[in-house]
Amino acid sequence: MISPWDIEGYVDYDRLIREFGMKPFSEILDRIPNPHPLMRRGVIFGHRDYERILNAMDRCRDWAVMSGFMPSGLPHLGHKMTMDEIVWHQFVGGKAFVCIADMEARYIRGLKFEETRRLGELYIRSIASLGLKPKNCLIYYQSASRYVRDLAVELSSEVNFSELRAIYGFSSETSLAKIFIPMIQAGDILHPQLKDFGGFKPVVVPVGADQDPHLRLTRDLANRISIFSFERIDGGVRVRSRKGSEYLERVRDLGFEFRSYEKHVDLFGDPEEIENVVRELEVDLGGYAFIPPSSIYHKFTTGLRGGKMSSSKPESYISLFDKPEDGARKVMMAFTGGRVTAEEQRRLGGNPERCVIFELYTYHFADDFMLEEIERSCRNGDLLCGKCKRQLSEIVSEFLREFQEKAESINLDDFEILI
Ligand code: TRP
Ligand code: SF4
Repeated sequence: MISPWDIEGYVDYDRLIREFGMKPFSEILDRIPNPHPLMRRGVIFGHRDYERILNAMDRCRDWAVMSGFMPSGLPHLGHKMTMDEIVWHQFVGGKAFVCIADMEARYIRGLKFEETRRLGELYIRSIASLGLKPKNCLIYYQSASRYVRDLAVELSSEVNFSELRAIYGFSSETSLAKIFIPMIQAGDILHPQLKDFGGFKPVVVPVGADQDPHLRLTRDLANRISIFSFERIDGGVRVRSRKGSEYLERVRDLGFEFRSYEKHVDLFGDPEEIENVVRELEVDLGGYAFIPPSSIYHKFTTGLRGGKMSSSKPESYISLFDKPEDGARKVMMAFTGGRVTAEEQRRLGGNPERCVIFELYTYHFADDFMLEEIERSCRNGDLLCGKCKRQLSEIVSEFLREFQEKAESINLDDFEILI
């Protein structure tokens, strides 16, 4: 069972793709000129509509990347992965929106706003240290964004309780605040498309697969709240109006070859061009014209002792603000895919795909050359776990030392932060 608020057990990613209706990321990998290592290594395993982002890149149109962090504990390596993805997308041309989900931390986890504010700053320092640039970037606390809150209320008019209960398992005992949080998150994801942020555009949301229910709901809401809906047909696009057929009349006057029906209009030409022009019309008519957000999904981070990583168990993860020697110690205690005895391991080799150490190398700490070398020498029994861990623990403590130095030296005034 995977839901936004709890993860349990071993995850079969192919099955997840099938059951959630995502697309395998591998299918679009060769359309990306310089893919991030997380993409090449299959850590980013699935997506929805990422083609939209690739098309926007190809055609030099505006697009954005957005994701959020709940400041209910210290940022850790799981957060680093999302941060790396945001930074990469900003680097290749997207505008970055970084949400500090303080309302979620308050209403789901019960933290005080003073705490979420203090913790939120650590997340901001972290992503800045990982390379986020002040230009083409907005960082905001949910509670400080009037846009997000207003949009959340507006979106909530399109949802009823039984739908939310079916998605999130809410009961009649669930607090209204908790029920409302998915609306806030939908507001987070869609608000980069509001007029004041430059209008409709493709937006990609990098997240863990546990966040997919939010994405599915948000994609639905983007459609429901917008006037026009689109369906690709042979040679063009079928346009429908959700808010009354009088809007369809305007669609005929856009200069495309068209065929008119009672409930829809078919327009002929380049489908992306058509959708853009119709969305511009919608904005003129006062509509939202949201493009359903795209998403990419990365694999879960395994707890250091196996099982799931839990923010309530500091021994199960490496925080970006752990003392370097604590980080190193946690690495030395982690579960590996090694054999029971050294003799057996020399004979049979280790099992990197069931090894937390190898996962750490793959997600964060090894270049391609090093990773290949570790995998090869692990499998053939040349590398034993003790040495493999010792090497990683040195890398980790060095990383933490440098990272924390950088984090401390970040000047927050360089960034636009809505707080
Ligand atoms: N719910 C997310 C989490 O628990 C945080 C979040 C808030 C988020 N708003 C978002 C993620 C918007 C992606 C997009 O980690
Ligand atoms: Fe994991 Fe390294 Fe041991 Fe192989 S040698 S199982 S990669 S710790």
